[in-house]
Amino acid sequence: MRTETPILIHLEDYRPSDYLIDTVDIDVRLHPRETRIISTLALRPNPAGRPHAPLVLDGDELALLGLTLDGSPLDSAAYSATPAALTVHEPPRRPFALRIETRIDPTANTKLMGLYRSSGVYCTQCEADGFRWITYFLDRPDVMSVYTTRIEAEEDEAPILLGNGNPKESGPAGPGRHYAVWHDPHPKPAYLFALVGGRLDRVSREVTTMDGRAVSIAVYVEPGKADRADYALEAIARSMRWDETAFGRAYDLDVFNVVAVSDFNMGAMENKGLNIFNDKYVLASPDTATDADYAAIERIIAHEYFHNWSGNRVTCRDWFQLCLKEGLTVFRDQEFSSDMRSRAVHRIGEVRTLRARQFPEDAGPLAHPVRPRAYAEINNFYTATVYEKGAEIVRMLRTLIGAAAFRAGMDRYFADNDGRAATVEDFLAAFATETGRDLSGFARWYERPGTPVVTIEGHHDASARTYRLRFRQRLPGAEDSPPLVIPIALGLVGGRGPIAAACERVVGGVFVLDRPADEIVFTDVDERPVPSLFREFSAPVRVEMVLSDTERLTLLAHDNDSFNRWQAAQSIAMRLIVQRTKADAPLAEDAGSDAQAFVEALSTFLDAEALSDPAFAALVLGLPSEGDVANEIGVDIDPDAIHRARRTLRRHIGRGLRKRLEALHAALADQAEAAFSSDAASAGRRALQNATLDLIKAADEERGTELAVAQFTDATNMTDRLAALSALATIPGEAREAALQAFASRYADEPLVLDKWFGIQALIPENDTIARIRELQDHPAFAMTNPNRVRALIGTFSTANPTQFARSDGAGFKLVADAIRTIDGTNPQLAARLLTAFGSWRMLEFERRSQATATLGEIAATPGLSRDVADILTRTLA
Ligand code: PHE
Ligand code: ZN
Repeated sequence: MRTETPILIHLEDYRPSDYLIDTVDIDVRLHPRETRIISTLALRPNPAGRPHAPLVLDGDELALLGLTLDGSPLDSAAYSATPAALTVHEPPRRPFALRIETRIDPTANTKLMGLYRSSGVYCTQCEADGFRWITYFLDRPDVMSVYTTRIEAEEDEAPILLGNGNPKESGPAGPGRHYAVWHDPHPKPAYLFALVGGRLDRVSREVTTMDGRAVSIAVYVEPGKADRADYALEAIARSMRWDETAFGRAYDLDVFNVVAVSDFNMGAMENKGLNIFNDKYVLASPDTATDADYAAIERIIAHEYFHNWSGNRVTCRDWFQLCLKEGLTVFRDQEFSSDMRSRAVHRIGEVRTLRARQFPEDAGPLAHPVRPRAYAEINNFYTATVYEKGAEIVRMLRTLIGAAAFRAGMDRYFADNDGRAATVEDFLAAFATETGRDLSGFARWYERPGTPVVTIEGHHDASARTYRLRFRQRLPGAEDSPPLVIPIALGLVGGRGPIAAACERVVGGVFVLDRPADEIVFTDVDERPVPSLFREFSAPVRVEMVLSDTERLTLLAHDNDSFNRWQAAQSIAMRLIVQRTKADAPLAEDAGSDAQAFVEALSTFLDAEALSDPAFAALVLGLPSEGDVANEIGVDIDPDAIHRARRTLRRHIGRGLRKRLEALHAALADQAEAAFSSDAASAGRRALQNATLDLIKAADEERGTELAVAQFTDATNMTDRLAALSALATIPGEAREAALQAFASRYADEPLVLDKWFGIQALIPENDTIARIRELQDHPAFAMTNPNRVRALIGTFSTANPTQFARSDGAGFKLVADAIRTIDGTNPQLAARLLTAFGSWRMLEFERRSQATATLGEIAATPGLSRDVADILTRTLA
């Protein structure tokens, strides 16, 4: 690896730009290999900047073709141009216009940053610093300008031309050519710039905002796929309505366009008025999309739309403030999805993601604060910590101050910062002003990496009829740091349900732990209660409290907090798996007697509730994943032992519930509607049916195969078909290979569906999987240049197949390392993202850990690594 220390950018070095750009007129002449860009910038010195400073515009691999200042060419001594910067040494001390001409090759752009082509469609990606791949600019989010974009192209090649803002004019531009002009009246940073040119089909409709503005909303997709765009279109309309009701935010342009492209590094991008999406998060039909896909599309459409206020109208001063838009917008999309679907079910899903992705990140070498203090490569900071933990901080803030004050604070934040590039301090100030509270202690959540641990002890005094709870908090590795402000939503539960007990420290069901240790006392508590703590997962912490299975089963049966009911079942299952992992007894010796009470409780639960809330029941039946178990154990991980332990427990549960599972599976199959509906209720029934299938298979592979084959053949939607295929995929033999074959030929022309097929095979926990994956890399539908393909095959393998990825012979690591090295040559961002799968290598047992070190060393020895990969590698090995 390059040995020079990476150049770090520090938050404390922030200073305002020396120049501002009021308007940008950008003229883009699209051409597959030689796209010309003429950009005219209205510049002026920034009163807050340094006087007499040179003007340094950012570039990346750019070539300057022409430059004028106020219409006159510049003397060659007056400026210097490199691929990375255009410097005007002594610019005027008054407003002036710079006209810059550059030329780029969109076809050669495999990094998918700046202007590139995806299946022939021209599109852009400018966050975080992609605009500098298009033209020289002050490419920083606190420089905000009004943009006018003129796009010109061959009419044949690009009949559709889209830009930010509102369409202004369009027409012919010489033989076979045409143009369109777009104007965006809202000042914005360059990272929100976008344009699209190509052959696309469109679905659209009109909506009217709460303040009476008629808006035309549209979704553009690959020709022939318009019938798969309706769900996304309706999701836009729902998002717009919801932001008006929930936050009083209306849309502010005449058009809102979403374009789906098939090569995209991330999920989607919130460019002003022109969101560009990974087509995975747009295209949906019952035959090609699962219920999870529908939910993800709805959520991401909403997320990008909500950025129009949290991100665009109020943007970030610098990239250290990324959580200001991302954490807040994730919080907003979570609330939206909860309102559209089941709140409890959705919350459980969020927490599972947080624990699966953010907790390990926070416990490993890539840990960083929600607001980082330094970075070498900003693209590596679009992390679970910034997004998911960032959202948890906003959620805690609401819990602390209450929903009404939160809403008022949000109104103030938007009002005070509209049109500005803001900071986390600006955000907190809005709530502090609104409530009169000092939020400086709470602000520590943004600064401290690591998952806090809260230890709790409970004591019931029967004669005094009191129940005492003692709390202690600590931040592993930073024991001396000042305490965090931790909202703990809690209550007491008894054998017949929640207990009403008084405690003056608990306000609105919430106790705030803001000291290293504290205790609270409930009075009038007759029976010995079970505490229900961190209801709805009120803070992103690990909880240490010794509860017996009996106490946990009380919560599962009687708590009125759905999250904690689910948590109770998970905790018992976790204990049972961890115990088996440590004992690692062969299947035959495990009689499962310790699981008996759990199985009985599940059985009672299913009888009472399975059919009234199937989505919730499916979650209760789902055991912690192998990754969850590894994170719980934390050291000397042997993924094979975890895999065996989990499989054994699943078998016990499957056998113990066998009759009920069969009955439920049949009942749910009967209930399936003739006409597919993607709504949460129907999805919930499918989820439970497929959870029962999975447990039946765990109990009896033959019966499981029989049911799965039938379901695979008869399925009328992708959810059921894919669940059947997944069930079959872990049973070696004819049935599996036949089903995989059938699926591949049925969907031979559907790349997004084949991604599911790649993923299922990447997950097979067998030794042959490495060879299978190497073969699949040569499949005609696979391409190392397409991020979705790579994530489906290599990403799924590295993040969700622990027994094969972390094989003790190192073959799994090597497979992924080979892919990373290949991909780094074309798409560094994607390569760096794959590399984060090695983030938990220190948890592994000695042999596997040694293999990981060796593999990371081999990657490090590769000449010419990108900054993206080098940055992750340095931190992973540090
Ligand atoms: N800002 C995008 C979001 O909505 C994510 C993104 C970041 C997309 C960088 C592309 C590049 O979260
Ligand atoms: Zn976002």
